Amino acid sequence: MCGIVGAVAQRNIVSVLVEGLRRLEYRGYDSCGVAVLAGGEPKRARSVARVSDLDAQVRETRLEGVTGIAHTRWATHGAPVTDNAHPIFSRDAVALVHNGIIENYESLREMLRGKGYVFVSQTDTEVIAHLIHSMYRGDLFQTVRDAVKQLHGAYAIAVVHKDQPHTVVGARQGSPLVVGVGQGENFLASDALALAGSTDRFAFLEEGDVVEITLDGVKIVDREGIHVEREVRTVAAYGGAVELGPYRHFMQKEIFEQPRAITDTIPQADQFDASLFGDRASDVFGDIDSLLILACGTSYYSGLTAKYWLESVAKIPTQVEIASEYRYRESVPNPKALVVVISQSGETADTLAALKHAQSLGHTHTLAVCNVATSAMVRLTGMSFLTHAGTEIGVASTKAFTTQLAGLFVLAVTLGKLRGHVDARQEAAYLAQLRHLPAALNSVLALEPQIIAWAEEFARKENALFLGRGLHYPIALEGALKLKEISYIHAEAYPAGELKHGPLALVTEAMPVVTVAPNDTLLEKLKSNMQEVRARGGELYVFADSDTRIVSEDGIHVIRMPEHYGLLSPILHVVPLQLLAYHTACARGTDVDKPRNLAKSVTVE
Ligand code: F6R
Repeated sequence: MCGIVGAVAQRNIVSVLVEGLRRLEYRGYDSCGVAVLAGGEPKRARSVARVSDLDAQVRETRLEGVTGIAHTRWATHGAPVTDNAHPIFSRDAVALVHNGIIENYESLREMLRGKGYVFVSQTDTEVIAHLIHSMYRGDLFQTVRDAVKQLHGAYAIAVVHKDQPHTVVGARQGSPLVVGVGQGENFLASDALALAGSTDRFAFLEEGDVVEITLDGVKIVDREGIHVEREVRTVAAYGGAVELGPYRHFMQKEIFEQPRAITDTIPQADQFDASLFGDRASDVFGDIDSLLILACGTSYYSGLTAKYWLESVAKIPTQVEIASEYRYRESVPNPKALVVVISQSGETADTLAALKHAQSLGHTHTLAVCNVATSAMVRLTGMSFLTHAGTEIGVASTKAFTTQLAGLFVLAVTLGKLRGHVDARQEAAYLAQLRHLPAALNSVLALEPQIIAWAEEFARKENALFLGRGLHYPIALEGALKLKEISYIHAEAYPAGELKHGPLALVTEAMPVVTVAPNDTLLEKLKSNMQEVRARGGELYVFADSDTRIVSEDGIHVIRMPEHYGLLSPILHVVPLQLLAYHTACARGTDVDKPRNLAKSVTVE
């Protein structure tokens, strides 16, 4: 999704800006651009190709400057064409980049047209550039503070004015923005990762903040216009995180990182304890009577899986909702519910809005399961559990999902113990299983060559069905999502018992039916559902636990999973589905890490 980088320095900062965009590339974008103040006016280069093309342009045109802003755009208003790419100019005096959506841009555009401004793009962003130009009276910081009061919607912006050659002003509301603090130079970015290599000291702006960065200073005012300091934190872990190493794609690297990511995520302690979720957790956990889980996409599927654990292990009623639905529907708040937001990025606009909506309804018990310690969601919730997946670059989430599952299992057992449903023997057994997970994952990863052989066949298909039951139904959903988002094959997932209620009509010899077949209490039921598919000629591709006695025969292809893993089985069973999607996409030659139309960290509604 859109990315912002800005810098004020005494050296030419074009390479810093372009490198920053390169580090944000993984989030998905369809155009990019950079502007610097050079010779008294803004100059820019823009591209509807990749950042590498922008880099070639700036070298060829020798674009240089000590103050500048840059952007990767993921189109919302207006097609991905050069005129709509940021930075957007106003009368060759103001240059501006923007993440988010301005909801009242039409009325602002009419007002600005009335003042003689000519619009050359279809973006909502252009109104901000002209608004700032129209209000500018010699102080860009003050102008932006006044101008943002007229904006409705979500934004993070960075803006420069030709008359202030050593100043960049930024503002945020609903989209992240961070200040990078350097020595004799300062930076702005939508994600600290963009500035790895330039600084490791960051101040995370709060909602409503407006910031001015100059060579030797950072000034911040909050939404009330009061001058504030934001804590400067050293965040060293960003450097080097974006190296691909020996892998072909980041997605492949991240799938293979899962044993390490799980090791880093599961608690070191020999007990499941509420303190794993923060200081307030033991009081809060004693007070709650249910859970409300809010999330989007893959993170929503980890919530769906967790519901099975929370209700069976902790015996606590759990509701899981898609964040974009919850935020807009009338619901009945229960102050005794623990609201859990699950998010890789911690910045997903819909999940963040759903959290704020829950808080506005009076929910005070909130917990984030999140991969980014400095994210808005972690800062807004009273408690958190950090997954330690490390930076996830591939747009399709993999290691973030399995580490979320590990964290949610820890939550279920912790609550089960507190509520008297998990005794010391069970606790020790769960802990042992968690500790053995990385080794078990390694044996699943060793199945890759067999999965590649299946992927060659899948690459020629246009549709696929995924089946699972119980705990593994959300895993089937996740497998279908992975396949469709990176290979562009249409895929649907069903609880296997639902087949006969409609989707069976789709089954023919041309329909591959991927089946998740753990050796659990529903195995015999699942086998009957598989027979329903075979009877209609459907081809079954089954990931079966070793002791299921499901064998390869005509129309039934089986890859044997190394062992049955009890309640934690979903964490193992999702891995071959990730690999199947990955290798199918490779065989079809798609852009695996940056699938079309998609973005990492969806910071707009
Ligand atoms: C799919 C995927 C998305 C995200 C969703 C939520 O592979 O990555 O569905 O899971 O956009 O993102 P987070 O977890 O950052 O809130």
